[in-house]
Amino acid sequence: MFTKRTIKDIDVAGKTVLLRADYNVPLDGSTITDNYRIKQSLPTVEYLLEHHAKVVICSHLGRPDGVPSTKYSLKPVAKELAKLIEKPVEFADDCIGNQADEMVSALQPGEVLLLENVRFHAAEEVNDPKFAEQLAKGKDIFVQDGFGVVHRAHASTEGVTHYLPSVAGLLLEKEVDTITSAMESPKRPLTAIIGGAKVADKIEILKRFIYIADFLAIGGALANPFLKARGVDIKSSLYDPAELSIAKDILSAANKESAKRPFVFFIPHDAVVAKEIDKTSTTRLVDFASNSFADIVNYPKPVPANEVNLEDGEKILDIGPFSASFIAGSINVSETVVWNGTMGVTETHSLRGPVGPFAHGTEVVIEAITGDYGHKPFSVVGGGDTVGYIESRNLVDSFNHVSTGGGASLDLMSGHKLPGVEALEDKK
Ligand code: 3PG
Repeated sequence: MFTKRTIKDIDVAGKTVLLRADYNVPLDGSTITDNYRIKQSLPTVEYLLEHHAKVVICSHLGRPDGVPSTKYSLKPVAKELAKLIEKPVEFADDCIGNQADEMVSALQPGEVLLLENVRFHAAEEVNDPKFAEQLAKGKDIFVQDGFGVVHRAHASTEGVTHYLPSVAGLLLEKEVDTITSAMESPKRPLTAIIGGAKVADKIEILKRFIYIADFLAIGGALANPFLKARGVDIKSSLYDPAELSIAKDILSAANKESAKRPFVFFIPHDAVVAKEIDKTSTTRLVDFASNSFADIVNYPKPVPANEVNLEDGEKILDIGPFSASFIAGSINVSETVVWNGTMGVTETHSLRGPVGPFAHGTEVVIEAITGDYGHKPFSVVGGGDTVGYIESRNLVDSFNHVSTGGGASLDLMSGHKLPGVEALEDKK
């Protein structure tokens, strides 16, 4: 249960509210290519407006490193927000200073002002208290609703809470509640699917799932050091030798856990390989194992050399059809699925559409989670690449919870405390 006070626990009428949102949205020039984060902030913005607050919104966009630049301006977001709430959104060219102060004090209940990118000031990321105080100036309440940025202790996420009574917005509450419940009290069986590029980014989440999931599957380049640990010659596949010992430790922890309770740690048994990451690449399927059930549950088992046939220069770019079906089978008997990280290189589109030559494993996972095989478990999806892919496929609404957070959802799933949440007032 969410333990922090929210906007519903306080009276916001007539108050000037500083609302921290995460409007770090992808842009093509000044065109927003994906407004998911803005849309997800609407329940809070609309609640505050309906309850007659004066709403001053601050956010970051990109990593401008303390230097103002039109490339990272939030101006396009003001336009998009105005369109979505069907109300004018005023825009201040700086988040602090005279112009912003004047615009804040002129604001009336039910009106919205968006401040320019907080990261145009280097003081934001170093959590400078003076800058936090300036951000708080003229406001009565701070509302944190930028879930995607609460893993950062910055001036607009942590510093400002020292100057204003601080509560959570509705998106933040929903994100923390849903992700925490899926991790701590899931309806079982719980399947966790972890993919992406690097083991280093996911060590903690993998370690956590070993103890809480019933079935844990890995895919993407993250699986490569695990395959290497099993004796597969992964040739030119993306691989950081420093990750081999981490993979071995995780395998050994998973094996110990499997000996104690019904728990399966699934490493890809087959893969799609190619020499180039390109939509016209010639692809091949490669089998790593004999695929008996005993092999699946008793990792690591050395792979006989004659079963592994990547050629020189080939890279593993997706899980193969056996692995995808096996994972789908597990999803189909699960009640909860947590998914973070794609199963292959999903950015390469095909000649005809968005499902590229290395996205089929990810597609099968999506089909299984969203009920194409007759059963639809409760699904929680996190991680920038995964969410980006399902947005590009227009499938966000087919999942129960698609997190707006990349690093923040990973940190929360890993069991870390989030400084931007910790700093808020506890429920009384
Ligand atoms: C994100 O996109 O994950 C958030 O907006 C945080 O951005 P950051 O990683 O630049 O802090």
